[in-house]
Amino acid sequence: MRAVLKVLVPLMLLLGAIAWGASVLVEHTARRWFDRDTRMRAELAVSGARDGLERALRKGERARVRRILGEVARDERVLGAAACDPEGALVASTSEYPEPFDCGRIRAHAAAGAAAPVTSAFEAPYGETRVHLTAVPLADEEGPLGFVALVHDMSWVATREEQTRGFLAVAFAIVALAAAVATTLAARFSWRGWSAELQRVLRATWLMPGPSAPPRTRREFQPLLSDVRALVSELASEQSEGRAGLWSPARLRDALARHLPGSEVIVVANREPYIHERRDGVLRVQHPASGLVTALEPVVQATGGTWIAHGSGAADREVVDRHARVRVPPDDPAYTLRRVWLTAAEEEGYYYGFSNEGLWPLCHVAHTRPTFRGGDFAAYRDANRKFADAVCEEANGPDPVVLVQDYHFALLPRMIRERLPRATIITFWHIPWPNSERFGICPWGPEILEGMLGSSILGFHVQAHCNNFLDSVDRYLEARLDRERQSVVLGGQETLIRAYPISIDWPTRWAADAPAAPLCRERVFADLGLAPDALLGVGIDRLDYTKGIEERLLAVERLLERFPQFRGRFTFAQLAAPSRTRIPRYQELNRNVEEVARRVNERFGEGDYRPIVLLREHHEPPTVFRYYRAADLCYVSSLHDGMNLVAKEFVAARDDEAGVLVLSRFTGASRELGEALLVNPYDLEEASSALAAALAMPREEQRERMRALRTFVSEFNVYRWAGRMLVDAGRLRKRDRVSGRITVPFRTVPGEAGGRR
Ligand code: G6P
Repeated sequence: MRAVLKVLVPLMLLLGAIAWGASVLVEHTARRWFDRDTRMRAELAVSGARDGLERALRKGERARVRRILGEVARDERVLGAAACDPEGALVASTSEYPEPFDCGRIRAHAAAGAAAPVTSAFEAPYGETRVHLTAVPLADEEGPLGFVALVHDMSWVATREEQTRGFLAVAFAIVALAAAVATTLAARFSWRGWSAELQRVLRATWLMPGPSAPPRTRREFQPLLSDVRALVSELASEQSEGRAGLWSPARLRDALARHLPGSEVIVVANREPYIHERRDGVLRVQHPASGLVTALEPVVQATGGTWIAHGSGAADREVVDRHARVRVPPDDPAYTLRRVWLTAAEEEGYYYGFSNEGLWPLCHVAHTRPTFRGGDFAAYRDANRKFADAVCEEANGPDPVVLVQDYHFALLPRMIRERLPRATIITFWHIPWPNSERFGICPWGPEILEGMLGSSILGFHVQAHCNNFLDSVDRYLEARLDRERQSVVLGGQETLIRAYPISIDWPTRWAADAPAAPLCRERVFADLGLAPDALLGVGIDRLDYTKGIEERLLAVERLLERFPQFRGRFTFAQLAAPSRTRIPRYQELNRNVEEVARRVNERFGEGDYRPIVLLREHHEPPTVFRYYRAADLCYVSSLHDGMNLVAKEFVAARDDEAGVLVLSRFTGASRELGEALLVNPYDLEEASSALAAALAMPREEQRERMRALRTFVSEFNVYRWAGRMLVDAGRLRKRDRVSGRITVPFRTVPGEAGGRR
C-alpha cells in the first residue's frame, strides 16, 4: 500500500499541476478569441450603418445619428453606442450608454493604441463586471468624421470561463482516477508476478543449497538470491555442526575434524607471530603489532599445524632447528612456526618495495601514491616462489589445507596449485580491494589476479571488496564470472569469492590476563602523571598513514578549541608502534605526527599539562590492554581500513562495560559496530563533536552501547571467521571428491564440476 501511495501521490500532484496549467492556457486563448470576435461584431454592426451615419454626421443631424446608433446597439450584448467627433466630443449616444466611457477617454486610448485611424479595442472594469470597448473610425471624401464607440458587456465571458474551468477539472479528475486505478492494478499484478517468481526461486534455492545448478531467474533477483544462499548455507552449516551458540577453539577444532577430516593446516603469512630478539644479551619474544597476527594466532593455536613466515627477528635463527622450525607459543607449544629466510635485497624488493610501496597504497584510499618498480615485482615473484617451496616442503600429503594470508602473497595460490593440484587453498586478503579503475594502475594487474585465482576460496572482509575484485577480474581477465554464485572460473577451475569479516578471539586472552579496569586506570594515570579527575582518550596503532593519526590529533585540537571545559582536563595518549620505517612516506608521517603533537601541546599545554602524549615505540599486548581499560574513550580514525581490530580489542578489553568507542566510517568494523560513535575522520567538526559527546556520555548510555558491542564481538569472533571458511572449504572438497568418483563426464553447467582444488 505504501509503495502504491508513493506512486499515486506524486502522480496526482503532477496531474493537478497539468490541470492548472491547462486551465490558464485555455483561459488565455479563449480571451483572445472573444476579443477578436467582439471587435469583428462591432465592425460588422457599424459597417451596415456606415453610409447613413457618415451622411448624418457630416450634416450635423444629431437626432438621426442617435436613431442609427439605436439600430447598431440592438445586440443584447451591446450596452450602448456613441458617436464622437474627431476631437473627442460627444455627438450623440444611446440612452443606456455607460457614462464612464466618454468620447475623450476612448479617443485617448485609441490614439495610444494605433497611429493610423483603424478600429481599436480595449477592456475595462465596469461595476462588478468588465466591458469591451471598440472604437470604429468614420470618414468620407472630405475627411475624418470621428468614430463610433460600442460598449460590449463581457460578463458572459466570465461565465464561460467558469464553465470551462469546471469542465477541465472534471476531465482531469477522471483521467487521474483512471491513471490511479491503472497504476494500482499494474502494481498489483507485477507484485504478484514478482513474489511468485521470488517464491519459486527461493524454494529451489532452499531445496538445493550449495553447489547444485542454480535455478534460472531474472537478473534483478540475483543479488538478493546470493544473500539468501549465503544465509542458507550459513544456517545449514550451523545445523550440521549440531550446535548453535558461540564459536570457540574447541568448536573450531571440531569443525575442522568434521569437515576436513585428517587435513593438515598450513598457514602462510609474512609476519611471524613470535619474533625472537636479543636485548642486552637476553633472548626475548616480541608480539608484533599486526591485526593479521592478532586474529590468526588464536586460530592456529586451536587447529595446530604449521605457520610459515618470514623470519625477521635478529635472534630468530638462534632458536630454530635445522629445518628452520620452532614450536610456539614458547611457553605452551601448540603448533610449528617455520621461518623462511630472506636476503636483504629480497626483503627490500618484496616486502618494502612491491608489497608496501606498491600494493599497500594501491589498495587503501589514503592519498599516498603507489610506486611500482619492475625490480620490486621480480623480487616479489621470487619471494612468493620461496614460500611456495616452503609450503611443499611442509606438506605431508597431496591435499593440505593452505591458508594464504594477505597482499604479500598474491602470486602464491597459483604457484601452490601448480605443484599441489589437490590442495584446498583459502586465501584471505586482509586489506581493502580497490575499485577496478584504481586497480588498473598496477602494471602487473592480470598476473596478480591470475595468481590469486589459484585459490579455492578467496576471502575479503566486506562484500564491497568482493564486488571490487569481481569487477577487476571482469575488466582485466578473460575469465567466466558467476555473479550469482559469486565465483570466477579460470582455466576450468573455480574460485569462490566470499566476505568473511575477521575478528578477535573471545574471551581475549590479553583481556583475561589484565588487571581490573580501576587498577589499570590507576596505573596508567600514574604513568602519565594525570590527576584522578582527568579524562583520558587513547589511540593504538602502527605508525601508518592509513590510520589517520594526524587527523586524529587535529580532532583533539579542534575539541579543545571548541570546548574549553576540556582544556587542562583531557589528555589523549597515542601509542604508535614504528612501522616500515625504511619507507620515506612513513618517515614523513612520523615527522608530521610529531609536529602536530608539538603544536597542539604548545597551544593548549600549561604547566605539567600536555593534551597529547605521543608514545612512539612498540608496546606489548599487556600494556596496550592496560591503556584500553584505563581510557574514557578510544578513537580509531583510519582513513581506510579493511576491518581494524583495535576497535574490537577495545570492546573486548572493557568488561567493566564503560568507555566509548569513536570509530571511523571508513573501516570494515564500522559496518558491524553500529553502537560506536561513527565519524568521518576528515571532518574535524564531526570528529571533535563525537569526542566531546563521548566525554560527556552518561555511564548508563556507555554501558548500553558497550554491552551491545561486546555481545556482537563475542558472537562474531575469530573462531567463527575461521570456522566458516573451513566449513565452506570442506563442502567444496566433498563436492570435488564426489565429482571425482563419477566416471562419466558430468558438467551440465560449465565450471560447476570445476578442476581439482
Ligand atoms: C596490516 C597487514 C598485515 C601486517 C600488519 C603489520 O595489518 O594487513 O599483513 O602484518 O599490517 O604490518 P607489518 O608490515 O609490520 O607486517
